[in-house]
Amino acid sequence: MHKTVQDIINMKRDEKKISVITSYDYTIGSLCDKAGIDILLVGDSAGMVMLGYDTTIPVTMDQMCMFTEAVSRAREKSLLVADLPFMSYQVSIDDAIRNSGRLIKAGADAVKLEGGTTMAETISAIVDVGIPVMGHIGLQPQTTILSQGYKVQGKTKDAALKLIEDAKELEEAGVFSIALEMVSHEVAEIISETIRVPTIGIGSGVGCNGQVLVVQDLLGMYDKIKPKFAKRYLNLSEDIVNAVENYKKDIEIGTFPAKENWFSMDDNELKKLREEIGR
Ligand code: KIV
Repeated sequence: MHKTVQDIINMKRDEKKISVITSYDYTIGSLCDKAGIDILLVGDSAGMVMLGYDTTIPVTMDQMCMFTEAVSRAREKSLLVADLPFMSYQVSIDDAIRNSGRLIKAGADAVKLEGGTTMAETISAIVDVGIPVMGHIGLQPQTTILSQGYKVQGKTKDAALKLIEDAKELEEAGVFSIALEMVSHEVAEIISETIRVPTIGIGSGVGCNGQVLVVQDLLGMYDKIKPKFAKRYLNLSEDIVNAVENYKKDIEIGTFPAKENWFSMDDNELKKLREEIGR
């Protein structure tokens, strides 16, 4: 049995830290699930790290459904949350409910969407049809970067008060948790102490109830952007390039494939074949 939204809420009550990691495919999803991560997030960051876009803006519902289906085939124990991509929930509440439903049918247990007070009504409507929602405030990659670029949020008193109000309204609207992206650590701590549902930080300090990282950042295999907040636990880019270079070299010098990598005919059959073709 996999984790439920209620299990995640209980973790805050029991003062247990929540671990979240992004996953977009079967292989990585199954390894992260096996490692015992609490939440697998099919983030729209897939647009950047899997599809090579510069931002998350071009990501479509069809793409998110495909990534979600792949991870859902892998997950056994973690909760599975999937992102609603840009413009899949902002135009109308009907759109938001319909597209949330598509992600649930693709295998997600809950959806995540970006936005503060302006999204409260939409969140409430999704929750009302029975679909759990994770909020996402602070830096909102789908829109903040259009006006401000990648900038830490909540550095002034007024910005901090707005974030605290956003968090309270999202809780009121029924979210089961809130992602806080690049929020100053003081504000992230205040929010985490103010609301009852767990906060999941990314670049928002240790005062959050849990942490999320993009799996490629953690494994050191996406070099286009190296965020200050991401800790690299491996340097896979280097290892992968080395491995592929060695493979190429082995092919060129004839050491791959070796006997253990190929298949043979039965000796008798081979003899008969040689007789027939005269070789
Ligand atoms: O898309 C994503 O990966 C996210 C996390 C960074 C929170 O939204």
